[in-house]
Amino acid sequence: MTKQNKSGNSLILRDFSELRKQWQREGQEVYQNVNDRVMSLAECLPVLKDRVVLEIGSNSSLHTVLAAQHAKQVIAVEPDADFYMQAVEFTQACGVDNVVLFHGSLQEFFDKNLHEKYGVDSVLAVRVLYHLPAQSTKFLKDSVLPKCKSAFLVSRENKKHKPQNIFNLHKAKHIRKYLMSAGFEMHNIHCRADIPNDVKVIAKK
Ligand SMILES: C[S@@+](CC[C@H](N)C(=O)[O-])C[C@H]1O[C@@H](n2cnc3c(N)ncnc32)[C@H](O)[C@@H]1O
Repeated sequence: MTKQNKSGNSLILRDFSELRKQWQREGQEVYQNVNDRVMSLAECLPVLKDRVVLEIGSNSSLHTVLAAQHAKQVIAVEPDADFYMQAVEFTQACGVDNVVLFHGSLQEFFDKNLHEKYGVDSVLAVRVLYHLPAQSTKFLKDSVLPKCKSAFLVSRENKKHKPQNIFNLHKAKHIRKYLMSAGFEMHNIHCRADIPNDVKVIAKK
C-alpha cells in the first residue's frame, strides 16, 4: 500500500478493506468493516472540523482516520492489543500525521490526565459508551465534556442494558440528557431509515 496522507474517503476505505483481509488471514480478531454504517458516519464527521478529538474505543482506527481528515488532531483510545496493533498498521499506511494512538482503557487515559495534556475539546464515541465502567462515563460527563465544544456519540438502540451502563447510554434520548447535563445546548439527531437501530447524536455548544 502506498502512503497517501489524507487522500479522501474512498481511498481510505479501499485500503482499510485490503488490510482487513490480511488481518483475517493472520487469524487476528477483526471487528470494523466498511459498510453503509461507516458511509453514514463519514457524512457527519465534518462536525469535528479543526477540533482536538478524543475517540473512545477506536478499534482498528477506520473511524479515526476518517475523522482525522477534518479534525486538528484525533487521540484514539483502544485497550485491546490486537485492535491497537491493527490501528498502528493502518494509520502508518495512511501516513496521517495528526493521529495519536493510546493503548489502554479510557480510565487509564484519564488517570494519566492526558485529556488535559492534549487539550481535548471534542469527543467521538461509536457504539462503545454502554460498554464502559460507570467511573469512566461519570468522569467523562463531569470533567471532560464540560470543557468540550462538540460531541458525536453513536448508539445502538437495541443494545441490551448492562449494569455498568448507569446513564442508559444505549438510547439516544439518554445520550441527549447526558450531553445536556454537561452543558451542551444544541443537539441534532441524525438517523437514516435504511440503517435501523443506529442513532447518531451530534451536540455543539
Ligand atoms: C463495539 S466496539 C466499537 C468499536 C468502534 N467504535 C466501532 O464502532 O467500530 C467497542 C470498542 O471499545 C473498546 N473498549 C472496550 N472497553 C473500553 C474501555 N474501557 N475504554 C476504551 N475502549 C474500550 C473495545 O476494545 C472495542 O474496540
